[in-house]
Amino acid sequence: TVVVDTFQTGVNVPKTLFGVFFEEINHAGVGGLDPELVSNRGFEAGGQYTPSSIEPWRPIGSEPDLWLETQKASVFEGNPIALKFEARGAGDENGQLKQALGFSNPGYWGMNIEAGEEYNVTMWLKSEGSLNLTVAFLSQNGQWVLGEGHIVEFAENAATWQQRHVTIRASSTDHKGQLAITTRQPSTIWFDQISAKPVKTFKGHGMRVDLAEKLLSMKPGFIRFPGGCYVEGVRLLNAFRWRQSVGRWENRPGHLNDVWGYWSDDGLGLFEYLQLAEDIDAAPVWVFNNGLSHTSELDTKTIGPFIKDVLDGIEFARGPADSEWGSLRAEMGHPEPFDLEYMAIGNEDCGKRHYEGNYLRFYQAIKARYPFMKLISNCDATNMPLVNPADLFDYHIYTSAAALFALSNKFDGYDRSGPKVFASEYAVVGQDAGTGSLLAAVSEAGFMVGLERNSDVIEMASYAPLFVNTHDRTWNPDAIVFNSWQSYGTPSYWVQTMFNSSGGSLLIPALVQGVQGATANTLVASATKRVDVNQERYIVKAVNFGGPMNVQIQLSGLSEDALGPEVTVTTLTGGSIWDENSFSEPEKVVPVKSRVPLAGNDLLVWLPPMSVNLFEFPLA
Ligand code: AHR
Repeated sequence: TVVVDTFQTGVNVPKTLFGVFFEEINHAGVGGLDPELVSNRGFEAGGQYTPSSIEPWRPIGSEPDLWLETQKASVFEGNPIALKFEARGAGDENGQLKQALGFSNPGYWGMNIEAGEEYNVTMWLKSEGSLNLTVAFLSQNGQWVLGEGHIVEFAENAATWQQRHVTIRASSTDHKGQLAITTRQPSTIWFDQISAKPVKTFKGHGMRVDLAEKLLSMKPGFIRFPGGCYVEGVRLLNAFRWRQSVGRWENRPGHLNDVWGYWSDDGLGLFEYLQLAEDIDAAPVWVFNNGLSHTSELDTKTIGPFIKDVLDGIEFARGPADSEWGSLRAEMGHPEPFDLEYMAIGNEDCGKRHYEGNYLRFYQAIKARYPFMKLISNCDATNMPLVNPADLFDYHIYTSAAALFALSNKFDGYDRSGPKVFASEYAVVGQDAGTGSLLAAVSEAGFMVGLERNSDVIEMASYAPLFVNTHDRTWNPDAIVFNSWQSYGTPSYWVQTMFNSSGGSLLIPALVQGVQGATANTLVASATKRVDVNQERYIVKAVNFGGPMNVQIQLSGLSEDALGPEVTVTTLTGGSIWDENSFSEPEKVVPVKSRVPLAGNDLLVWLPPMSVNLFEFPLA
C-alpha cells in the first residue's frame, strides 16, 4: 500500500528540481544542437598556424589545375587562417575550364538536406578577378545536385573581403549530403568562414529544431552548461573560455575540445547557451573554469585574471545594456539581461591542490558584487561538512542499476542545515545500461523518487549526458540519440519527461507499507500536489524495480467526493529489461497513458514488473 497523507498541505518542490545538463560531448553541440552544417568553417581546425588542416574539406579536381592552400590572410583577427584557391588553366574560347574545380565539405558525417527546405549559405571571399561560383548541395556520392545557387561578381566588387549569401532551396533529399563550391572560370580566390545552416531553427535562434524541441518537452527547471570535463580541458589552454565564444561567430577562434576529442568552432558560446535557457524557460547554470584542468592548476596567488574574466562574464550575461560587456550582449540581440542566478565554480575539481583556495577567491569576488548569485561547490557535503561556504554542492553518480536504485534514500539523512544539493550528473552506466535500457531508466526513476522526496534539500538534479551523435558515442549511455536528421529519446529520456511536472508542485508525504519477501525494497513511491494547473491534482509516482505487484494507493484524509471519477495512469515498461529505443523503433519504450475509474479515495492497481508509473488524481 502507498499511503498518501493528504492532511499535510505539503512543502514546495523547487521549480528548478529537475533540469538538464548540456555538455559539449559526443558532438552534442558541434554537429548536433548547433545546426551548422559545415565542419571546420574557418579552416582553423588544425590550429591558428599555417599550413593549417583543411580537413574535412576535400578538393574537387587535382593539381596542377587546382591549388588549395591555407594562409594567414583572413580579415578576422580572431581567426587568421583563410583558404587560397586557384583554378588554373587557360579556358576555352568562352574562357571556361574543361572541368569544374573547387572544394567540398561533408559536414559532420553528412549534411541533412531535405527537399523543400531552405538553407542559408554564407562565405567571406575576395578574388583577384571576377567571380563565377556555383554553390551546391550534392548527394553523398557527388552525383546529384540537391539544390544550388550562384555567386557572380565583377572584379572590382570582388577585390576586397566581403560576405556573400545564397539561399538555396533543395529540390531533392539526401541525409548525408555535402556542400560543394566550384567554378569553371580560371580564378584566384581567398575563402573564409563558410557556413551553411537551415533557415528553420528553434524559435529562430539558431538551434536544431528536433533536438531543442526534445529539450523543451522535458520542461527542464534549469540547464547546466557547457560541461562537465569540457569546462576543465585536459590542458588549461584547451578549456572553454567564454570571452572567445561571444561576438560575431566569424571572429570566434574556436578551440580543441581535448577532453572529448574534437574541434569546436564555438558556435555555441555563452550567448547561445543563455538564449537557449531562456527559450526553454530553464534557469541557466553556468559552470566556469576555476583555473584547474585535468593536468594543470593555477596557483591561488595567480588566479586574479581568471576572476576578472568570470566577473566580466557575469556582466556580459546580466549587466545593463550600456555596461562594457552588457553592451556586447545587446549588440548580439539581447538588450535585456539574462536571468543568470546560478554558477558552479569548476567541475569535479574537489581534492585538487588549489581547488579550495581558488574556490574561495571566486566565491568572495562574485558574492561581493552579486550577493544573490547561488554558487555551487564541487565538494560532496554528504561525506563531510564543506570547508568553504557554498549555496549548493555538486553530487555526481554513475553506477549500476541496483546500486542507483538503492541510492533512492541517499539524501534521507542529509543534514538539513547544510548547503542544498545539486545532483547534476547521475545515470546508470556499464552493462546494465546497454545503449539506453529499460533497466537503467527504471533504476534512475527510483533514484529520482528519492530526489523528489528530499526536495526540501535537493534544489536541482540532472541526468547526464544529454545528447549523443550516433557517430561519436564517446560516452554511453545518453538521454537523446541523433544522427544528421533523426533523433529519439532513450527510456531514460522518457523517465525525465515523466517527472517534469514535479518542480513547482507541493511534496506530500507518501509511505510505502507492507511490501514483503522478494518484493521488499523494490518499490519506491512519492506524491506531489499540482496547484499550478486548472484542475488541481495529486500525482503519485510508483517505481517498481522488481516483479509484478498489486498496489493499493490510498489518498488518506480526503472526503469521499473530493476526487474526480477517473485517474490518468502513465506507465513506462517493456517486454524485457533490455528493451531499448532505436532509429528503427524510436518508440518501443515510451510512457503509455490510460484512464481508470475511481470510486472513493483508494485505487487498487497492478504494477507491471520493472515499471515507472504515474497516477494523476484530479480533484473533483
Ligand atoms: O557526463 C560525462 C562526464 O562525467 C562529465 O564531463 C564529467 O563531469 C563526469 O565525469
